[in-house]
Amino acid sequence: MSGAPDSLAILVLGGGGREHALCWRLAQSPRCRRLLCAPGNAGIAEEAECVALAITDPAAVVEFVTEYAIDLVVIGPEAPLVAGVADALRAAGVAVVGPSQAAAELEASKGFTKDLCAEHEIPTARFRRFAGAADAHHYVAVHPLPVVVKADGLAGGKGVTVATTNEEGLAALAEIQGPVVVEQCLVGPEASLFILTDGETVRVLPSAQDHKRLRDGDEGPNTGGMGAVSPSPRLTPALQKQALERIVLPTLAAMKARGTPFQGFLYAGLMLTAEGPMLIEYNVRLGDPEAQVLMMRLESDLVELLWAAATGTLASVEPRFSSDAAVTVVMAAKGYPWNPVVGTVIDGLAAAEALGVKVFHAGTRRTEAGRLVAAGGRVLNVTASGHDISEARALAYAAMRKINWHGGHFRRDIGKSA
Ligand code: AMP
Ligand code: GLY
Repeated sequence: MSGAPDSLAILVLGGGGREHALCWRLAQSPRCRRLLCAPGNAGIAEEAECVALAITDPAAVVEFVTEYAIDLVVIGPEAPLVAGVADALRAAGVAVVGPSQAAAELEASKGFTKDLCAEHEIPTARFRRFAGAADAHHYVAVHPLPVVVKADGLAGGKGVTVATTNEEGLAALAEIQGPVVVEQCLVGPEASLFILTDGETVRVLPSAQDHKRLRDGDEGPNTGGMGAVSPSPRLTPALQKQALERIVLPTLAAMKARGTPFQGFLYAGLMLTAEGPMLIEYNVRLGDPEAQVLMMRLESDLVELLWAAATGTLASVEPRFSSDAAVTVVMAAKGYPWNPVVGTVIDGLAAAEALGVKVFHAGTRRTEAGRLVAAGGRVLNVTASGHDISEARALAYAAMRKINWHGGHFRRDIGKSA
């Protein structure tokens, strides 16, 4: 069936909940001989050897991979991709999951993606690009409301303002360094579509949806994601098909025609408008915490799947996912997303997992005395499956009651609207 060798040394780049979920599934494969993760975290250390490495330095990654005779590299976050780490690895003959620097422009530059959409009639909000805030000033001052003001480059999810007054738009603009994109405001529920491609074959993953706002009821500031569910109750198979055919496949075709084919995971953030799905943005990686619920539902061998994606043989591998639903709830450190308080002690994970959940670690580390402590903003992802979202949700929250951590907070309504 698949041509994946049966004894691979694999390196995962990243150290969050997404990478823990990937490492967890990779380590379960009989084809995985050795698993390393840079930098990893305290939870990943239970599945993989965690190593220190400058993961956004292409030469350093190639040197490490050569020294450790790594067969396959899986790149979790966008920063190494945007820095050209996948290009350097491919040039060195190493199998890698993740797009080239040129293809990572889909995430690294909103202006690039908007121009591509315009050129190929891919549905997205009407927009104008500006070289800098000063050039955009008049346009934002008189734009019909609401007006959406975005930094063109990577901003860790913080570069977007949906302004309901022109003054608010101008204030957002004043914060932006470098190129700017100003957009029409789209209305509708949001949904995400994930695919994996080797550059030719496209495998659509189950739908998943994160909860971006900090507080219950979708209140408070945007975060990296406070929880996720899969399947997404909003992205029906019909809408998913439309989004694939009108947005994702034309994008992949356009990237190929430019001579910069996309390989790896592509995440399309969509607005489900009255006129159909429209593209909000691309990410050139799996979502975090969406990967956690997708990996919870994955039934087939992840090494086989990722090896196929990395070696142009995805046509021979069809991933299988459980029909069960999955829910993940993020436990974040107090003060997240502004000033997370780190160093607080966490206990009770074994008792939580005894109920049948998987607790993925995001920002954790072990002290010299062996205590588990918070070491980042998002700290734990309590992940459960069930026949439907409400069953998975009930299990996740029941398990969370076993976790003893006074330094954390979490949303109580993940998956509730489903
Ligand atoms: P982005 O970083 O581009 O995903 O934007 C972050 C969030 O801003 C999205 O998840 C949407 O909630 C919102 N957003 C971005 N662009 C638009 C738009 N054109 N219309 C309405 N909301 C938007
Ligand atoms: N959960 C949103 C992201 O990974 O960008």
